[in-house]
Amino acid sequence: MAATAPSTRARIYDMFRHSNVGHSGRRWRAFHLLVLAAGLLAIAISSIDGLPPAVDVFLTMIVVLVAVVFFGEYLARLWAAPEAARFAGVSDGMARLHWALSVDGLIGLLAVFPVVAITFGSVQASHEAAPVFCVFWILKLSVHAPAMTTLARVIANERATLASVVIIFVMILVSAATIAHMLERELQPKAFGNIPEALWWAVVTLTTTGYGDVVPQTVGGRMVGSLVMVSGILVLALMTGILATGFAEEERRREYLRVWDQVTRVPMFAELGTVTLSEIVSKLRVRHYPPRIVVVRRDEPGDSMFFISEGEVEVRAPRGTVALRQGGFFGEMALLDRLPRSATVVTTQPTTLLVLYASDFYEIAANIPSLVESVEREARRRRAENLGEPAKVESS
Ligand code: CMP
Repeated sequence: MAATAPSTRARIYDMFRHSNVGHSGRRWRAFHLLVLAAGLLAIAISSIDGLPPAVDVFLTMIVVLVAVVFFGEYLARLWAAPEAARFAGVSDGMARLHWALSVDGLIGLLAVFPVVAITFGSVQASHEAAPVFCVFWILKLSVHAPAMTTLARVIANERATLASVVIIFVMILVSAATIAHMLERELQPKAFGNIPEALWWAVVTLTTTGYGDVVPQTVGGRMVGSLVMVSGILVLALMTGILATGFAEEERRREYLRVWDQVTRVPMFAELGTVTLSEIVSKLRVRHYPPRIVVVRRDEPGDSMFFISEGEVEVRAPRGTVALRQGGFFGEMALLDRLPRSATVVTTQPTTLLVLYASDFYEIAANIPSLVESVEREARRRRAENLGEPAKVESS
């Protein structure tokens, strides 16, 4: 049976999906960010006093335009909501109602509030209430920004480690406040008279903020202060390290899923067993290219090869141009011969490539010889073609 083309509603739903790494999804996100930036900038500028009336009108128009775009987006999302897998088996009306009442739906609705308020004349873009729109729009951004999801996942994954650092932080905080209270209460009863008062100083010192509003005066107090400052740096460094590692690991996991998604489109990989495939997947990187981008340039040194999982490239080889499509590969000759690139390769349409760096290529060559053999065979054919030699038929 022939596969049916996705409906317009399914395509619109797909475009809005956060995890859509395709062209429609990326284009929409870029446009959305641009519109949002224009709206936030207009509101920020309109908060300046004494702007000429013409500028005020112009800024109001931008704010209204941005809100109209968000209104259109809200309606389109609402219309496409029944396409979500979680609403399978639910009537279209119920699916839309569920979506409208979800966090996504409610924030989407709040983001269109400016257009309603301005249309009905209750608020002007330059009015004091206008900055509230900023908050709604930033909220909208935070819901759609992948970084927020990543941060939430990193905190969830690292909660045990983060909790131990927080415990160390609290231990230092309370001990510092108690010791400072004992040492300083006579000289500074206002700031160190009781432990809760002393805690303010301890927090400011431990976080290395150091406002300087409360300063220990005894020698003992200053020694404790120095120790707390050094501990603060250590605790913050620990926290930074945990979060940075968590982010890097989360990104590695996401990249793995992205590659896994693409790798099945390359027949060469699809034939491999799961264990072998997972070894390759961990070494590949996904790169999206718009049309007419030079991916490799002739005579430049090469440190990677590419597999085409979507789209098409044009190889400007010495004896003519060759088109390579989904499933094809290029850039292998520089790795095998350790010579500069033999041709320039340019994308002819939006293209997704899987990149394999030289060091990983040599590792795979040692572990999965069958894969590299077929790459080598094709490289030999291409080399002969470029030299104008007749292609040799190889016995297997
Ligand atoms: P490399 O030399 O690393 O960089 C350019 C790439 O273009 C090359 O590897 C091959 O992958 C590819 N290439 C070169 N010549 C041909 C050809 N005749 N047909 C198809 N692809 C080629």
